[in-house]
Amino acid sequence: MSAVIETQDLTKIYEGAFKGQDVHALTKLNLTIEAGEIFGYLGPNGSGKTTTIKMLLGLIFPTSGKIRILGRKDFGSPAVRRKIGFLPEGAYYPDFLRGEEVLSFFGKLYGLGGADLRKRIDWAIELVGMKHARKRLVRGYSKGMRQRIGLAQALLSNPDILILDEPTTGLDPIARKEIRDILSNLRDEGKTLLISSHELLEVEMISNRVGILSNGVLQTMGTLDELLTSRDVLLQVGAMSAEASGKLTAAGLEIEDQVKDNVKIRVPDQVSVYDALELCKTQNVPLLSVAPRRETLEELFVRIVGAAERAKEQS
Ligand SMILES: Nc1ncnc2c1ncn2[C@@H]1O[C@H](COP(=O)(O)OP(=O)(O)O)[C@@H](O)[C@H]1O
Ligand SMILES: [Mg+2]
Repeated sequence: MSAVIETQDLTKIYEGAFKGQDVHALTKLNLTIEAGEIFGYLGPNGSGKTTTIKMLLGLIFPTSGKIRILGRKDFGSPAVRRKIGFLPEGAYYPDFLRGEEVLSFFGKLYGLGGADLRKRIDWAIELVGMKHARKRLVRGYSKGMRQRIGLAQALLSNPDILILDEPTTGLDPIARKEIRDILSNLRDEGKTLLISSHELLEVEMISNRVGILSNGVLQTMGTLDELLTSRDVLLQVGAMSAEASGKLTAAGLEIEDQVKDNVKIRVPDQVSVYDALELCKTQNVPLLSVAPRRETLEELFVRIVGAAERAKEQS
């Protein structure tokens, strides 16, 4: 196991002007992100995602706790920092620059220059699919194009780790899909990604592992297979007789929906799928498909964050 990002009891309290106004933005966070994974860092607005990210980048200091990046304690040092690409939340780029000029500006900030910088810019622009628009002014870019230039900026130093704060927020479905594809390609190239988001469908589609944050406390963390519990099995069958339908219902199966010759039958957890299939066979019910169904990430999120908020209200 090689943890790329590791935190131990990481805590941030923003001090208020008066006593009692302190904000406990993050409390004892223990996070482990392994090499080559896309980690989805989830939580409602104000739950502490950006605060965590800023600490990982060394932009703000923890109140207490430890951080290790690539196994190193000096995670804020230039040597480690160069290995991390960062796309801030709602990144803004000057309107009067061309796409490639934005990258040149940031490249120089990273200490790149000359032919090396030009090569990197070409490479990053190609990766995010912005070759056609590199000479256009950012002013005329769509939100999706701005976000792609932002990603190219994060990629300039060819970092091993990418930290992206809400990369798909505010994008239309096509732009989201494009960004998602770029991110999975980067993962396939061996990069490690930390993506914060409150858009669950997005995260469910691309993450290997997720953590759910609520009020600065990590509520749960794991792979989607570990976290999303299985609910039931859905059988889709063709037309059946009234007699068959009666037998199935008597056996505890539930007819969920019926459109012409397509019947959806729910097999609840307490009924064996094999028994259900056997019954279909003996009743000559044509089988179209069998699919296990599990809780969606959205359902998990609502369940976990909801419970955490209720617990907080009661304390
Ligand atoms: N600089 C700051 N000073 C005081 N409070 C802050 C500061 N930055 C964030 N907060 C508070 O910390 C909490 C977590 O914020 P943030 O990390 O931005 O959440 P998220 O990114 O999940 O929306 C919020 O209550 C927010 O208001
Ligand atoms: Mg944020």
